Amino acid sequence: MRQALVVGNWKMNGSLAANSQLLESFLERWQGEHQVEVAVCPPAIYLAQVKQLAGDGLQIGAQDVSQAESGAYTGEVSASMVADLDCRYAIVGHSERREYHSETNELVAEKFAAAQQAGLVPILCVGETLEQRNASETLDVIAEQLKAVIDRAGLQAMTDAVVAYEPVWAIGTGLTATPEQAQEVHGFIREQLGDTGDAVRILYGGSVKPANAGELFAKPDIDGALVGGASLASEDFYQICLAAE
Ligand code: PGA
Repeated sequence: MRQALVVGNWKMNGSLAANSQLLESFLERWQGEHQVEVAVCPPAIYLAQVKQLAGDGLQIGAQDVSQAESGAYTGEVSASMVADLDCRYAIVGHSERREYHSETNELVAEKFAAAQQAGLVPILCVGETLEQRNASETLDVIAEQLKAVIDRAGLQAMTDAVVAYEPVWAIGTGLTATPEQAQEVHGFIREQLGDTGDAVRILYGGSVKPANAGELFAKPDIDGALVGGASLASEDFYQICLAAE
């Protein structure tokens, strides 16, 4: 059985005061024992603060890591630095990184390997643009994105990773893939992962909200969510986490 996982991706939002308010308000709701695992990914500069405030109730992840181990890479944060703070996850290959920072499939694969090397669990984001979907290229694009990582790290490495399917056209747009559209791609991703597929958690991301989380999580190959906008509102994020239980 795969444990459900809900991850909040705060993107470039927050402040010391806002983070502590958001976490306090969420943790007040999210008390006691839960079956679903919850993680949040704040901006790197707040990882230490959020780790300290989260206690045992939440896992923490970075939104990105460098492909390099250390050295002359001004502005970068290495996977081992993230691991040093006892964080568990690192998102790699988010579409905003691919688009605004020209991250290629090969670079994402390097980051994936660097995260695992440091003992982090990578959350590998894959997804197609609207143009690609309309040209019926969705599954080819996803297969290529996965292949680059599998070629670099090996199929077995996928058992210590999470995959997030995030259609680019659904991110921050209010448009969500229908549960059927998402399930089709999730099933395909699991197939691509071969023997390791059954063990790998595959999250859906793209305008997940309390109103659509339940029907997405009801699909057999959707094991949780990567949540952007709605993770910044404690009640919404709480409702999404509850829907995954
Ligand atoms: P969104 O973002 O929930 O705001 O669409 C999801 C993501 O980019 O991970």
